[in-house]
Amino acid sequence: MDLGIAGKVAVITGASLGMGRIVAGMLADEGVSVAISDIKDDAGERVASEIRDRGGKAAYFHCDVADFDSTAKFVADARREFGPVGILVNVASLYVQPSPRFMDTRPDGPTGWRRIIEVCLLGAYNMTYHAARDMIEQKWGRLVYFASDGARSGEPDGGDHYGAKSGLLGFNMCMARELARHNITANVVSPGFTLTEHNVELVKKLPPDVVEKMLRRYPMRKFGDPIEVPNLVSFLVSEKARYLTGQTISVSGGYFMSS
Ligand SMILES: NC(=O)c1ccc[n+]([C@@H]2O[C@H](COP(=O)([O-])OP(=O)(O)OC[C@H]3O[C@@H](n4cnc5c(N)ncnc54)[C@H](O)[C@@H]3O)[C@@H](O)[C@H]2O)c1
Repeated sequence: MDLGIAGKVAVITGASLGMGRIVAGMLADEGVSVAISDIKDDAGERVASEIRDRGGKAAYFHCDVADFDSTAKFVADARREFGPVGILVNVASLYVQPSPRFMDTRPDGPTGWRRIIEVCLLGAYNMTYHAARDMIEQKWGRLVYFASDGARSGEPDGGDHYGAKSGLLGFNMCMARELARHNITANVVSPGFTLTEHNVELVKKLPPDVVEKMLRRYPMRKFGDPIEVPNLVSFLVSEKARYLTGQTISVSGGYFMSS
């Protein structure tokens, strides 16, 4: 299926590892020039160089999404390297594992709830503010936000992280309405528990009965493969999804359902 996005320029946050890394590779394989960013520089440089080695266009830039100036610089660097930005995929995220009860957390510190909100929610505001300007000028754009099914269903722990992520759902609908007149779509992808590198390690450490209890919450009785959400992202940023906007779509084996 031709996605119709060859030649577009994408900026992707949190792309050094996990699903962000996979999104970067998939879009590059479609002929998109991908500007990758993260705070883990060695891993990010490796992602970009692997894409270049197989003939794709990719560059890595350090960017802390919580910092407004850092996001401005990232978008400017991406534009200078590849041209005006048409696609923004917000993957960068911060959480504590295992997730604490909210009442056991604190506002300050590197994993306090202020920092979690700054990375998970304000980071997407910062990136949208800079990247959508290029999309408005081009009269074409795609915004994708990574939330979480825990933000849709609520969880007994991780309220700092899931609460911040749930803010993306409302922000997304506002962006979809505000920017539709410029031919820009905005959508949220919502993973369930997905077997990215860190979760594979977590599952190995958990007692089997705990894993079994977690699996019982998934109608399909399996956790996500890290490729499944990036598959949806590729479609959402494509020309095929031009009439699809303002939605939150779960890819989680039925963990969260809504009509
Ligand atoms: N893995 C899961 O089970 C799962 C479940 C639900 C939702 N999600 C969401 O899906 C997305 C991808 O998840 P994942 O597990 O592949 O990756 P992840 O959540 O481990 O991290 C994504 C990336 O964000 C980067 N990051 C952290 N702070 C940053 C900052 N201040 N600025 C820029 N980058 C920063 C990290 O270095 C990392 O590379 C995330 O948004 C995550 O919240 C994941």
